[in-house]
Amino acid sequence: MSDKVILNYNGSELDLPVSTGSMDEKAIDISKLRSATGLITMDPGYKNTGSCESKITFLDGEEGKLMYRGYPIEQLAEKSSFVEVMYLLIKGNLPTQAELDKFVNDINEYNYVSEDLIKILDAFPSSAHPMGVLTSLTAALSAFNPKCVDVSSEEEMYRAAVTLLGKFPVLASWTQRKVKGLPVNYSNDKLSYVENLYQLLFKKPGQELDLDPVIIDALDKLLILHADHEQNCSASTVRLVGSSHAGLFASISAGISALWGPLHGGANQAVLEMLEDIKNDGGDVEKYLAKAKDKNDPFRLMGFGHRVYKNFDPRAKIIKVAADNVLEKLGINDPTLEIAKKLEKAALEDEYFKSRNLYPNVDFYSGIIYKALDIPTEMFTVMFAVGRLPGWIAQWMEMRQNNEPIGRPRQLYTGAPLRDYVDIEKR
Ligand code: CMC
Repeated sequence: MSDKVILNYNGSELDLPVSTGSMDEKAIDISKLRSATGLITMDPGYKNTGSCESKITFLDGEEGKLMYRGYPIEQLAEKSSFVEVMYLLIKGNLPTQAELDKFVNDINEYNYVSEDLIKILDAFPSSAHPMGVLTSLTAALSAFNPKCVDVSSEEEMYRAAVTLLGKFPVLASWTQRKVKGLPVNYSNDKLSYVENLYQLLFKKPGQELDLDPVIIDALDKLLILHADHEQNCSASTVRLVGSSHAGLFASISAGISALWGPLHGGANQAVLEMLEDIKNDGGDVEKYLAKAKDKNDPFRLMGFGHRVYKNFDPRAKIIKVAADNVLEKLGINDPTLEIAKKLEKAALEDEYFKSRNLYPNVDFYSGIIYKALDIPTEMFTVMFAVGRLPGWIAQWMEMRQNNEPIGRPRQLYTGAPLRDYVDIEKR
């Protein structure tokens, strides 16, 4: 098979080399295109554009496969832990026990947040959305840790990563405690990363908090499933912001903002609100399917469809089973789960959804589990951010270590042609 594409333009030929990834994916290298032909490529939404080479995550949207550093997501969800997956994404390999213990100790070293940040937290109204607060507090970390990371030093990169991994759950919990009227809470080194996250979110002053293994396992699994997803909107944002050599915390803060939108991570909140609406409207799923298909109605079936998956999102399959288990083990009978299942079945049998390869995505069932764990709806996307943090860090580090150039797309200008300035009295 040819390892190049030949482009014919204006009577001359240009060879465009084809590169092959480790899972046999092919890419045309167009880096010489503009200098050789004057042409640029147009690809709104980057549907066909690769922005980088990456060794972190592979996904095959046609087959519905996902791997972190070569390990299938199904195996990681079943056998690994979130903290181990964080290490895997950031360092590239599964840790030995000694490496994992050191990693946990290093994170614990930084799992406090400056009391001065509480002043910023206090300035937000209690009606503020937790994602707005989280992105601001994360950006503020850059002011409280002003030293830039020397990206040529592996040690410094690692320290920046564990600093953020330590502080982030504290900030995430503060965004919820504020809404609930609870005082801020601090980390407990004796607990695992996920147990600590749970106590940060829920512990009341003076209370002995029960850590139900069913809840901790469910949370751990959800965080693993959200930990990375290659060049999605928020990871690309983190890489793009970092490509100007902005710092790690500022880049991650931008990624949190990108995640917030309902077409990306904000979909988990939107799904649960949609399921509640359907329930309160009598549970007629066909009515909502018809709305989703109606091109004059802005309503979309939230939690359905994906830019890359044209098959089942493998994370959704795992989460659906987990939702059933968690609700059963916790003895919860949630009518929204039944509505979700009815809606999924109806959509999968519907020609509109079948012909467009629209399947449930990671956000379709995750909110049902978060709800069962007593996590408020506005906090769902914050939980996604806690899960995605190691992925963002790994993406940022890889981009800097590869010394990628500043991200700067081109455009096709379609505005007014050259015209002369007209004085205001003559307009
Ligand atoms: N409901 C109804 N129609 C849909 C939906 C949906 N959820 N998703 C896509 N379509 C239709 C769309 O109208 C278009 O139809 P047509 O070809 O007739 O114009 C076709 O399917 C292709 O959709 P698209 O918008 O061009 O696809 P995209 O790759 O640009 O968008 C998406 C992907 C995820 C933004 C979109 O499927 C969507 O809005 N889904 C709902 C929001 C959601 O669940 N987001 C979470 C994504 S997974 C987690 C994450 O990324 O964080």
